[in-house]
Amino acid sequence: MSKVIWHITMSLDGFISGPDDSMDWAFDRDHSRIADETMNEIRAIVGGRRWYEVAQAKFDGIEGVYGGAWNGPVFVVTHNAPKVTTDPRVTFVPDGIGKALAAAKAEAKGGAVAIFGANVAQQSLALGLVDEIVVHIAPVLLGEGVRLFGGPLAKRIELERRAVDYSGETTDLIFRVKR
Ligand SMILES: NC(=O)c1ccc[n+]([C@@H]2O[C@H](COP(=O)([O-])OP(=O)(O)OC[C@H]3O[C@@H](n4cnc5c(N)ncnc54)[C@H](OP(=O)(O)O)[C@@H]3O)[C@@H](O)[C@H]2O)c1
Repeated sequence: MSKVIWHITMSLDGFISGPDDSMDWAFDRDHSRIADETMNEIRAIVGGRRWYEVAQAKFDGIEGVYGGAWNGPVFVVTHNAPKVTTDPRVTFVPDGIGKALAAAKAEAKGGAVAIFGANVAQQSLALGLVDEIVVHIAPVLLGEGVRLFGGPLAKRIELERRAVDYSGETTDLIFRVKR
């Protein structure tokens, strides 16, 4: 059974990107053991259209995922899928997050599925579709940007800490989502 992991780097004040979707504060850190282990588990990625567009505009698109160290199928959740897609690795999914995760799991063939970004990940969590949250806390305060959580939750979600590690400058945490 494929595991769904929300894999994220966050500033200590809770932002996953800084002003203008900046990520330099995260990319400049040392690689972590937990980040590498998580990446090696992942066989498919689901992200929202904003993640995809920002990655295209600023971070080498799909080529830049995990700094170019990862290759595989990517599913982009959107209300407005483009009629033509040029990259065979990318599938736009217009019929909901559940469908995108199901398609990613089918491609992952038992390996893990990562969710990137915040909005689609929050909805996935609310739908009970996330198994683990792997978060790398960067020692920086950004003050503004995209928040890990921007608003209230429909209901409280309990987590179990599975691992804590320190590598380079980041603090790495793995939580299991309790059901
Ligand atoms: N720190 C990290 O580790 C990390 C990793 C990845 C990304 N990021 C950052 O995260 C940011 C992007 O995340 P985000 O939270 O802003 O947005 P997001 O989750 O990537 O994308 C949101 C978009 O997804 C589509 N969408 C959302 N819910 C949907 C639904 N239920 N059905 C259909 N489509 C749906 C909508 O696009 P349409 O308008 O097309 O419908 C919506 O505007 C960027 O700044 C990126 O750089 C950070």
